[in-house]
Amino acid sequence: MTQEIRVWDPLVRIFHWSLVLAFTIGYLTGEEESNWHIYSGYAVLGLISFRVLWGFIGTRHARFSDFMVSPGTAVQYLKELRAQHPQRYIGHNPAGGWMIMALLATLFVVSISGLKVYAIEEGLGPLAGAPSTLAVISVARADDDDDSADEPSVSGHSGESAGEEFWEEIHEASANFMLLLIFLHVAGVIVSGRLHHENLIRAMFTGKKSAGSAAPGE
Ligand code: HEM
Ligand code: HEM
Repeated sequence: MTQEIRVWDPLVRIFHWSLVLAFTIGYLTGEEESNWHIYSGYAVLGLISFRVLWGFIGTRHARFSDFMVSPGTAVQYLKELRAQHPQRYIGHNPAGGWMIMALLATLFVVSISGLKVYAIEEGLGPLAGAPSTLAVISVARADDDDDSADEPSVSGHSGESAGEEFWEEIHEASANFMLLLIFLHVAGVIVSGRLHHENLIRAMFTGKKSAGSAAPGE
């Protein structure tokens, strides 16, 4: 029988599947602006804040220091993946580590831009009434838009403030960019799992992986 070792602590696992659920609800309810949308968005923000903290003080394989490596090492891993002989890592592999950072950073942009739209549109949420440093950028952008418009006298923003339109665009674009990242993330999980002959998805439920052969120092 192959020996199994604990890799993902319960908090990482609960974090992961709660994030999948909250993101799915948030994405599906985006168009209708219900309370479900707002609450799932807050849940995502809470979850990623927890994960960043856990990346510093969490268990061994949950720490950023365990899986954040140089971009060169990640590229090397991708080459090994292409050649179908990737080195095995017990925690996240080097490409997976960078993907996690991209997912967390993009989720942060989605949540903050959502809070901005909510504050401007409804006057609600923690950012309502906050002095907007980024308003300068959005106003500058709006000026540019107006300069290039055929009709300088028409604002072209159909009643929406420039800031609102700006944050809505960021919110929608970053939420859609998440879909691309998630596709690559799940594809990466499936491909590297196949090549290592292990079920990484099951490991995210049970927390365990086979001890097998791993990278030096594991
Ligand atoms: C991370 C989770 C989130 C996802 C995946 C998400 C996704 C979306 C999507 C796809 C839309 C529709 C965009 C459009 O077609 O206009 C939307 C709209 C919206 N979201 Fe979110 N969102 C999230 C978090 C939040 C948060 C935290 C808030 C504020 C508390 C928020 C507030 C809004 C508002 C007010 C709209 C309506 C914007 C409009 O009028 O077009 N969202 N969201
Ligand atoms: C149903 C689709 C999904 C599956 C099957 C899946 C599977 C996995 C697996 C197996 C891992 C561990 C990878 C490894 O062994 O190195 C992982 C990690 C991760 N996934 Fe997913 N995932 C899914 C959807 C998502 C979504 C939608 C998000 C973001 C909204 C996400 C964000 C993350 C993050 C942040 C980690 C790092 C976990 C940690 O260390 O805390 N995943 N995922």
